[in-house]
Amino acid sequence: MGKLIGKNKLNCAVFISGRGSNLKSIYVYSKSKISKINLKIVVSNKSNVKGIKFAKKNKIRTVVLNFKNQQYAEKQLIKLLSLNRIKLICLAGFMKILSKNFIKKFKYKIINIHPSLLPNYKGLNTHQKVIENKEKYSGCTVHYVNEKLDSGKIILQKKVKVLKSDTAQSLAKRILFYENKLYPKAIKKILFKI
Ligand code: GRF
Repeated sequence: MGKLIGKNKLNCAVFISGRGSNLKSIYVYSKSKISKINLKIVVSNKSNVKGIKFAKKNKIRTVVLNFKNQQYAEKQLIKLLSLNRIKLICLAGFMKILSKNFIKKFKYKIINIHPSLLPNYKGLNTHQKVIENKEKYSGCTVHYVNEKLDSGKIILQKKVKVLKSDTAQSLAKRILFYENKLYPKAIKKILFKI
């Protein structure tokens, strides 16, 4: 793995499928004076989403790939990422499960944000499940991506109280606020390990 040396910023790609609020928070961090990352590319499996519009508006290169043929899409991605010397991939609401082969190629260079206190509530519909199980706390986790879904080493977590009045929607909204703060913090934490 390469080291982050001197003034060189680490090239970073963000993968999305939708709204892109975490993309936005990573972008804002990348533009701050203290940032050591250069957000070079936004990859999406969907073209007409808010995150892509945000990236275009802010002049970040966007690449939309059709994942119907995932093997082909990943082949294109590998080329693109190595041509652009991408050293960190941030999954931010990316709704596709990357292949083992792809993950192996970027070991310890792919991170993800998940809206629960992992290892609890892996997968989809976390907030609904948390409410149904009457949990007192939920939260969000940034973790490395390995071959098993939502199971890689945890980088940072934020615990969030579940209110009695919470619905899945209100809880999702409150946790998202903390997700947007946690993602840049987690990037800062791992930068010198990449
Ligand atoms: C977030 O809740 C994230 O934890 C989950 O998908 C959502 C993406 O939101 N993986 P956004 O597109 O970053 O706003």
